[in-house]
Amino acid sequence: MPQNSSLFEPLSLGGLTLPNRILMAPLTRSRSIEDGHLQTPLHAEYYGQRAGAGLIVSEATQISSEGQGYAWTPGTYTDDQARSWRQVTDAVHAKGGRIFAQLWHVGAISHPVFHDGAAPVSSSAWTPKGQAFVGDLHPEGPTVPYVAARALETDEIPRLLDDYRNAARAALDARFDGVELHAANGYLIDQFLRSSVNTRDDLYGGSVENRVRLLTEALSALLDVLPAEKVGVRLSPTGGPGGSSDADPHETYTAAARALACHGLAYLHVIRPNTHQGNVGDTKDVERIMTGMRDAFDGVFVANGGFTPGEAAAWVAEGRADAIAFGRLFLANPDLPERIAQDGPYNEADKSTFYGGGAKGYTDYPGLTAEEKAAA
Ligand SMILES: Cc1cc2nc3c(=O)[nH]c(=O)nc-3n(C[C@H](O)[C@H](O)[C@H](O)COP(=O)(O)O)c2cc1C
Repeated sequence: MPQNSSLFEPLSLGGLTLPNRILMAPLTRSRSIEDGHLQTPLHAEYYGQRAGAGLIVSEATQISSEGQGYAWTPGTYTDDQARSWRQVTDAVHAKGGRIFAQLWHVGAISHPVFHDGAAPVSSSAWTPKGQAFVGDLHPEGPTVPYVAARALETDEIPRLLDDYRNAARAALDARFDGVELHAANGYLIDQFLRSSVNTRDDLYGGSVENRVRLLTEALSALLDVLPAEKVGVRLSPTGGPGGSSDADPHETYTAAARALACHGLAYLHVIRPNTHQGNVGDTKDVERIMTGMRDAFDGVFVANGGFTPGEAAAWVAEGRADAIAFGRLFLANPDLPERIAQDGPYNEADKSTFYGGGAKGYTDYPGLTAEEKAAA
């Protein structure tokens, strides 16, 4: 019997049977080839090392060049990009693993350097707080202040939805097992959900129902291309760069979760408030928001955000979540399920190598040694 045994009950998700409930959370690592936004053999090695996850959710990958906001992030919208991802998906499948692509549009969390000098787009005109990560694409990089984003016109939305359809097709072509719609962390879809940003007066702004509209339309666009069981969605009631927030996260995100129910989706993935991105709230409020979202959704519920393995096992045993996604622990421990099964030890993540660079801090985290296995 493994330690933390509830995490090792198989889980049916998206037509797949996951051997454990330990998911790898999406982790941007900014190591793609900027010219063409392509993956490399190093990515295949990194993801292949982590194939023991119940499911891997890939690093966020932009649906269009407009969707990019960080240096060296991959794309999933051209044939070349799909081909470059195949080395990753093939490596994961060869080791018996499963991987979804996280489809991303950053909205305002960007910089003109990625868009031939044009302003980033958002739900409304605003300037995010903080610095854009532009790497060596800007003479004053690697970080420069965000600039004002412009509001998307209502008649631009159909084109945006086409970009989601195109990315879903490219993800299929790349042989992903499914996609995760990135609607979390204050990026474009969240810029429509959150009241501090969205001041629109058309069908996409104002009431909660209107602010949720882009989320459901982007989802429908993906469902034009993929069966529902191959589509998951990620939401976060708080957090993310840029300083956006919602006046009533319980109301807004419960409504968002409800809008995602009844489609037969693979899962809903929620980052609980109070994790690595700040926004510390009242614990009871966090409880209420997570329970509200879980109750509003009707399928597999994945929780993430600062979980220790022991807490994760308790959440699954108590039925508060069906699976838990781990970010930093998976980054630093390629054999995380094995480590959780024997209750550690765990490598520490090195923040200085999170974004950019090569193999260091990426593919060189060690697996358990023979002594560590024997000591368990
Ligand atoms: C280096 C790094 C990169 C991240 N990149 C993404 C990303 O691409 N997409 C996303 O939705 N969240 C991203 N996140 C957030 C993580 O998926 C996760 O929500 C966060 O790390 C909290 O989980 P943890 O406490 O298990 O690490 C990132 C976090 C880190 C530390």
